[in-house]
Amino acid sequence: MILDSYRIATEPYYQPQGQEIATFLAAYHERLPIMLKGPTGCGKTRFIEHMAWRLGKPLITVAAHEDMTAADLAGRYLLEPSGTVWHDGPLTLAVRHGAICYLDEIVEARQDTTVVIHPLTDARRILPLDKHNEIVPAHSDFQLTISYNPGYQSAVKDLKESTKQRFIAIDFGYPPPATESAIVARESGADADLARLLVTIAERSRNLQGHGLDEGASTRMLIHTGRMVRAGLPLPVAVQSGIVLPITDNPDIRAALSDAIEACLP
Ligand SMILES: Nc1ncnc2c1ncn2[C@@H]1O[C@H](COP(=O)(O)OP(=O)(O)OP(=O)(O)O)[C@@H](O)[C@H]1O
Ligand SMILES: [Mg+2]
Repeated sequence: MILDSYRIATEPYYQPQGQEIATFLAAYHERLPIMLKGPTGCGKTRFIEHMAWRLGKPLITVAAHEDMTAADLAGRYLLEPSGTVWHDGPLTLAVRHGAICYLDEIVEARQDTTVVIHPLTDARRILPLDKHNEIVPAHSDFQLTISYNPGYQSAVKDLKESTKQRFIAIDFGYPPPATESAIVARESGADADLARLLVTIAERSRNLQGHGLDEGASTRMLIHTGRMVRAGLPLPVAVQSGIVLPITDNPDIRAALSDAIEACLP
């Protein structure tokens, strides 16, 4: 099959936080488009990989960016020795052959690009390819999921109302401490004590959110820090390089964060 390389063979570990699996399954059953909302490094990508695996569907991921054009999603003619040949873009591949398409960081795309998904995400379920003179009806397995980090939201970079209102939304946040510790332990190989300590550190950093930090330390950062410790680095050094230095360049905030962290270290 043409999409075989997009299939996920082994189960991606995903620790649920709430009703997100049931919500996704219901939305998929109805082929409703889904929006995963939440801060960076909180498990959105892992979740969609897990769901694609669970449903046995191929997953095509597209990272949106500000120079992305509709053709980057839909496809374009390319010059080949035999002449110009049409190449389906990643969205068209998913629509035509029945994959889950994951559009990562959708707000990065320009609004004129975003509207190509409109006829796909309402009752029509079609993708018009103007340049190719074709209207592609969505395969029955096709589903569109987008991700969206509300933290970076600004008036210019918000989704249009007509885009937002097409989606079922699932909110992701940092999981409760016990759950997050389990994730950190499993993903970094840190022992339970270290994982719990890293989560405590993250909570301190999250308290600085809005007071100098745009976002607190993500689960991803804790995993990286745990791995640095496993690789032999002393904990205070790992915490500096894994959390404090990446998260801010402001010396005052670095100092405040370091102080808050030091208070938790054994
Ligand atoms: N609920 C979870 N279950 C299992 N692993 C998780 C979970 N949440 C976070 N992780 C771990 O955290 C890492 C980062 O998560 P992920 O890449 O899914 O974040 P994201 O929300 O997609 O972030 P971004 O918005 O930056 O793309 C994952 O690689 C995984 O190791
Ligand atoms: Mg991601």
